[in-house]
Amino acid sequence: MNIFHIVGARPNFMKVAPVLSALKGRKNVTQTLIHTGQHYDASMSDVFFQQLGIPDPDINLAVGSGSHAKQTAEIMVRFEPVVLERKPDLVLVYGDVNSTVATTLVCAKLGVPVGHVEAGLRSFDRTMPEEINRLVTDQLADLLFTPSEDGDENLRKEGIPAEKIFRVGNVMIDSLVRLLPVAQKITRAGLPERYALVTLHRPANVDDSATLKEILGSLLEVNRDLSVVFPAHPRTRQRIADFGLHPGQLRLLDPLPYIDFLALQTRATVVITDSGGIQEETTYLGIPCLTVRDNTERPVTVSMGTNVLVGRDRDKLRSEFSKVLSGKAKKGAVPPLWDGHTGERIADVLVGPS
Ligand code: UD1
Repeated sequence: MNIFHIVGARPNFMKVAPVLSALKGRKNVTQTLIHTGQHYDASMSDVFFQQLGIPDPDINLAVGSGSHAKQTAEIMVRFEPVVLERKPDLVLVYGDVNSTVATTLVCAKLGVPVGHVEAGLRSFDRTMPEEINRLVTDQLADLLFTPSEDGDENLRKEGIPAEKIFRVGNVMIDSLVRLLPVAQKITRAGLPERYALVTLHRPANVDDSATLKEILGSLLEVNRDLSVVFPAHPRTRQRIADFGLHPGQLRLLDPLPYIDFLALQTRATVVITDSGGIQEETTYLGIPCLTVRDNTERPVTVSMGTNVLVGRDRDKLRSEFSKVLSGKAKKGAVPPLWDGHTGERIADVLVGPS
């Protein structure tokens, strides 16, 4: 079987690594890794390949940044001839980024089967570009690999036949389980003993100057009690500069490599984020997570894990943060099948048990 794997943006890389590795050496499998080039900075891409042990992509479509329409269209235009020439039997797409939906659309029109890894997640918020990507990808995919029960339910409600849905668990946690021992050995010089780890990059949080100013204000308040360590996405750093905002005493860092960021998570007193994957990683690690969003497509991190949605409500952030400081943070459990073996379960579905 000739399998394509599509990656494009930072959160795809920790998801593809376990599947590539599980399929490696299985009988009659040929794998082709395609990077769309959606993320292109070394700190957002290359270093993840190195640390996760992912081979160099066989093909890089080098699309770069652009508006949603431009980026999505450019990926489609550059990907279609590759499919026509190399004729994959199956294309695996990951997560919910523009690269995921663009390549799925191309395959659907050419009659090439698609498997979606991390299917069924829904925030029910169509103002999020990722929600649109998830809805379209899941409607078109032929095999849907879900991380948790809510994913199966969402898909069934959208009319996806049960035989297409495979609950395999959380593939990103495979990478975490594998590299956690390495991360635990890393110490980063110059960091305080206790700190709040922050990431922000959602357009809804960083693209509007008043909203970003308000969030930075809340973080400066947090920083009075606990040092804020803030590895900033290029988009966020750019917006802070564009809007003439002042991060004051917040420790802004460049984006960190996977293992270095994992190391920071494991030692954080609390994580404050608007990322999807970090809500899951903190749940696995049992670290309190305050999510600066009104909704989440990963509700199991709230119902079972350590995640609390604080939205953009400064009072809610303040009160949840106080609970953490006084040792009353929510305790959580690890959801079923978040066990480090999801990649193997996906490989079993695709080619049978090894
Ligand atoms: C994308 C994903 C988002 C994911 C995030 C993780 C979509 C719709 N969004 O958002 O779901 O959580 O990746 O990082 O696919 N930029 C650089 N260097 C890079 C990449 C981007 O400087 O290597 C800057 C550019 O100014 C670019 C902006 O970041 O215009 C946004 O990049 P883009 O890929 O459009 O979306 P992300 O915000 O990264």
